[in-house]
Amino acid sequence: MAEKSPLRIGLAGFGTVGGGLVRMLAENAELIRQRTGRDMEVSRILVRDLKKIRAIPLPSGAQLTDDPAQLTDDPAIDVLVELMGGIDAPHALISRALDKGKHVVTANKALLAEKGDDLFRKAAQQKLMLQFEASVAGAIPIVATLKESLAGNSIHSLVGILNGTSNYILSEMSSNNLDFATALSQAQELGYAEADPTLDIDGHDAAHKLVLLIRLAYGKEYPYTAMPIHGIRGMNRMDINFAREFGYRIKLIGQAHVVDGKLEAGVFPTLVNHTFLLARVGGSYNAVRVEGNAVGSLFLHGRGAGDLPTASAVMGDLLTVARQAMPNNTGFVAQEFARAAILPPEEARSSYYVRVMVQDRSGVLRDIAGCMAQENISMAQVIQKPEEADGVPLVFMTHEASAQAMHNALAKVEQAGLLRVPAVYYRVL
Ligand code: NAP
Ligand code: HSE
Repeated sequence: MAEKSPLRIGLAGFGTVGGGLVRMLAENAELIRQRTGRDMEVSRILVRDLKKIRAIPLPSGAQLTDDPAQLTDDPAIDVLVELMGGIDAPHALISRALDKGKHVVTANKALLAEKGDDLFRKAAQQKLMLQFEASVAGAIPIVATLKESLAGNSIHSLVGILNGTSNYILSEMSSNNLDFATALSQAQELGYAEADPTLDIDGHDAAHKLVLLIRLAYGKEYPYTAMPIHGIRGMNRMDINFAREFGYRIKLIGQAHVVDGKLEAGVFPTLVNHTFLLARVGGSYNAVRVEGNAVGSLFLHGRGAGDLPTASAVMGDLLTVARQAMPNNTGFVAQEFARAAILPPEEARSSYYVRVMVQDRSGVLRDIAGCMAQENISMAQVIQKPEEADGVPLVFMTHEASAQAMHNALAKVEQAGLLRVPAVYYRVL
């Protein structure tokens, strides 16, 4: 039996995640009571289209509205749960809710990465909770892990598969031979993709999450606009298969680590040795590997997208609000972060996988190796494959080189007229 007053929720968004949350609130009502001593009730649900047929029935007592003020300005609502996506509309909604003294739970990484600063500042000023576990890596409790459990560690590096849609696409292309477009449309049907899936496939969603992880791990601002970002758009099955022959899987990796006191960070399709745990993360699953000075290496793995996995993280945040602990939104005393010392992306060093499509004539390999040598890049492994429509695939792995050197070397290869189509190159983890 609940003894305290119910926690009244204003829910913004009744799509994939909003629907999952409504289901979980109903299915786990008794558990919520046992854990918090309170009931949770959804009072109002904000949507765009009031006439849309809804897959999930409206919770009893809840009303649908298309007027944001009915959530923010109703004194009977205790907490705003923002699950609608976008940037400007949710920014205005959350800002207003905080002004009106309401706690906030959100899954919106784009908003927090691009415009989160003033919301965290306002939440701190108002002594309110602004919880965002669901915004990074779906069900994986990485926000709480960095904010609480690993707070006593100096973090050396973060490496993660942070976008379920991209990982699903790469897995389906690799294991089930699906083409890119079919795999993307399946990810959309399964509720993994963003409303605008270019955010997923161009790497921006993973970058948004990485900006949030950097804040949590380092208490520093790495501006999203300064981050090097490459997605998996145009990924060719040929490269997935060649990488396999070298013993690697291609994954969309977001990573940040400290190099000589500066942060090197970015999102890239990356070759991951098949023996690494990250190489085995399949489908919509995400994973994050954290290296700390006390904890050593820690690996978290779980569902990165979808209705119930994401609702699981939202529920955890709601229970934190219901228990009324002191707000600890960012994990640091400061709510405004100094800009990180950023290693210029062109100075970042990595081994590379390179595929060039060339004419089958003598001396091509020597000429390409010459362009590489001029930039001090040495080749580690080379294979040549039978001719395809665009030429003969010459595929090689290099020893470690800077991004600038690789860029220069491939520009020289291009200028020398050796390529039939632009070179494909990925980092190796
Ligand atoms: P979705 O299925 O597209 O649902 C969005 C909901 O928000 C819809 O109910 C929509 O109303 C409503 N909405 C959108 N813009 C609105 C506006 N301006 N005013 C009022 N209502 C508005 O999206 P989702 O997949 O649930 O994602 C929601 C949020 O969670 C996003 O920030 C996303 O990045 C994040 N997220 C999603 C996942 C996932 O796996 N899907 C995982 C983690 C985080 P109508 O129904 O009337 O159109
Ligand atoms: N579109 C996102 C993804 C949802 O595919 O990872 C989870 O944040």
